[in-house]
Amino acid sequence: MIQTRHLSKTYANGFTAVQDLNLKIEKGDIFGFLGPNGAGKTTTIRMLTGLLKPSHGEITIGGLDMARQSTEIKKVIGVLPESHGYYAWMTGREYLKYFAQLYGQDMKDMRTYIPYLLEKVGLGSRNKPIGQYSRGMRQRLGIAKTLIHHPQIIFLDEPTLGLDPVGQKDIQKLLLDLNRSLEVTVFITSHLLKDIEVLCNKVAIVRNGKLIEQGEIRSLQTKYGEQNLMRLKTSDPAKTSEIIKLIASVDVTEDGQALLIRMNESEPGKQRVKGQILKLLLAENVDIYEFSKVEPTMEEVFFRLVSGEGGNQI
Ligand SMILES: Nc1ncnc2c1ncn2[C@@H]1O[C@H](COP(=O)(O)OP(=O)(O)O)[C@@H](O)[C@H]1O
Ligand SMILES: [Mg+2]
Repeated sequence: MIQTRHLSKTYANGFTAVQDLNLKIEKGDIFGFLGPNGAGKTTTIRMLTGLLKPSHGEITIGGLDMARQSTEIKKVIGVLPESHGYYAWMTGREYLKYFAQLYGQDMKDMRTYIPYLLEKVGLGSRNKPIGQYSRGMRQRLGIAKTLIHHPQIIFLDEPTLGLDPVGQKDIQKLLLDLNRSLEVTVFITSHLLKDIEVLCNKVAIVRNGKLIEQGEIRSLQTKYGEQNLMRLKTSDPAKTSEIIKLIASVDVTEDGQALLIRMNESEPGKQRVKGQILKLLLAENVDIYEFSKVEPTMEEVFFRLVSGEGGNQI
């Protein structure tokens, strides 16, 4: 759906903000473009949406080439920039109608589509001027605006920036819903792990204009996550803890409801230790409710990825 090859941008002052970026986004993806401030996210999104000319490299969107077919590309994409103006005196409905006319949409279709969009973004019953909207409501209206011409892909530059946790969650829920119900592909930038972790199926991590890693979130978690952590829940946590402390290569901590067991062992050693734990618990008549591998969080993944680069800013 979106592909870049060797995409680079050097600004007029000689600063290279994006360097040799190869991205691949498939139809239906919710793709997270994650990196700290100054990583080159906005520069990249501007190039992908035809607002900024690349210094090098190619962009194709929906099989169209940005260098030759940017007008056609603009018909299939919607964009929510990092900061954008609103007309404070308009209502949400008037705002969407204004852009529908500007984009030459069929206004008969808009008579049902605009109320549908307003409902989708949780502004269906609101008929007050945008000047009285909260920032979260403005962002949701902005997302509705990106969809006014029925695009296949929407680009959102830090849509949750400056929102409180509730506002952030609303945006996440909304984007998941739009991705499913309208089958729209989503490209979102963020410097917040949480946004990407709960929302995206794929992620690319950038730093200093360069790609550090990209892929399915699940496979990155397996690749970089902590592999040695198990969760153990039993009928007698105190006794369990005592028993496990007898095994030298294991560290035990608690997380409130269960014991967390870190095994400092190679793969065959781990299996042996697991067997040992089960046997000891059985011998002591302790019931086992749960004994499972702890899936790594994206936080761990990012920490590993960026710690090798001399920082943990993400
Ligand atoms: N017009 C410009 N001229 C020179 N440097 C720029 C320009 N715009 C952005 N930059 C620089 O490029 C780098 C990447 O910026 P940006 O793409 O906005 O990053 P992000 O969105 O990830 O915070 C930053 O160091 C920024 O200062
Ligand atoms: Mg930015």
